[in-house]
Amino acid sequence: MIQQQYDHLRTDLPIRPRLHIHPAHGWLNDPNGLCRIDGRYHVFYQHNPDGPHHTNIHWAHVSSPDLIHWSDEPIALTPVVGSLNAQGCWSGCVVDDGGVPTAVYTAVLDAPHNAVVAVARTDRTLRSWVLDPVGKIGKPDDPGVTEVRDPFLFTLDGRRYAVQGAGDPFGVPQLLLYSCDDLDTWEQLGPLLTLDDPIAAELAQANIWECPNLFRLGDRWVIILSLWRHSDADQPLCGVRYLVGDLIPSGDGMRFIAQGGGIVDDGDTFYAPQVLVDANRVLLWGWAWEGADRSVVEIEAGGWAGTLTFPRELGLSGDLLVSRPAAELVGLRTEQLDPGADGVVEASAFDVVAEGAVELALVDPELGTREVVAKTTGAAQLLVDGSIVEVFGSGASATSRHYPKTTSHWQIRSAAPYRVWALG
Ligand code: FRU
Repeated sequence: MIQQQYDHLRTDLPIRPRLHIHPAHGWLNDPNGLCRIDGRYHVFYQHNPDGPHHTNIHWAHVSSPDLIHWSDEPIALTPVVGSLNAQGCWSGCVVDDGGVPTAVYTAVLDAPHNAVVAVARTDRTLRSWVLDPVGKIGKPDDPGVTEVRDPFLFTLDGRRYAVQGAGDPFGVPQLLLYSCDDLDTWEQLGPLLTLDDPIAAELAQANIWECPNLFRLGDRWVIILSLWRHSDADQPLCGVRYLVGDLIPSGDGMRFIAQGGGIVDDGDTFYAPQVLVDANRVLLWGWAWEGADRSVVEIEAGGWAGTLTFPRELGLSGDLLVSRPAAELVGLRTEQLDPGADGVVEASAFDVVAEGAVELALVDPELGTREVVAKTTGAAQLLVDGSIVEVFGSGASATSRHYPKTTSHWQIRSAAPYRVWALG
């Protein structure tokens, strides 16, 4: 059968992350519903439990007391034939609505242009969810907006608002603003951001802005946007940008005025991050999809696709968004390694802290290949786990996917001192 036919391709083991959130079987895309309820972290993600393809999207769920130890939880949201979400439970957030954890997400009835904001509620274990059968809001009247999705809620001056991604596959993107103190009553407040903003126009060209996040860092407002671009190539997911600026009143609503911005992550497999605004910090997880070096046949054989990044903590240095591995991740270090003069690392998951420029390569002596996977120009931290590599330097982080074989090993080169720990 299919599995036997693929058995000789089972090179799955060295590429599987051991410490990152990803499905044992099936598909993963965006992180969703990031929250901390009664001290416990909850992470949901877009998931197809039946196979490594983007279809029939559910919300999978894991939880942790400390960002280190994660437990699998029951699937939270499932598409149900005949309901609002028949074609998928797409991205959204979770809020603590007067003591009731509530998912506010994109329910897809039959196609992406028929999506509404849906609400599902649970108790404080977040284990058993009840869908509210009434869709809350669909598309605005604006004929230029043919697709809306990915509600993200925030509060300002005691009022609750939602920002939603919007656009048209052949048109221009927008972020839409709603007031939603009562999650049953959504009021449209018009666009929050359009390409009329010159900084958005320079940095964030797209046809649809997906997965918006809006939050405060210090005394600034920050927007994170994922860029969906129609293109003849088959890859419409074109990176993630941030804008730093201010919210100013406008008509019944508000406008975001960007003062600066840039790239959230420089890697070529990073998309749709979501933030968790915790008591005194902002954490971010992103989706790292499979790179070009893992073929469709290999993905079918492995039976899984996609991983989340490690959690990152965000800060601002002027207008520059800086991300660092969440402080808790040092708790994953098991032992310090000595890569010796040749820089060879005998571990599949490790953490490198380098004081100067560093190069990380994947070397396969049997095939005689040496692939440089990361090169930094200054001090940096590199986190490697199976096939995901995350690099943190002075600028944007960089997430990428590279696929070790049973015959290959990692190798570090640096003229400056560096330390390496195995992670486990
Ligand atoms: C981003 C995205 C979202 C959508 C979800 C569907 O990757 O396209 O806009 O809600 O994925 O899985």
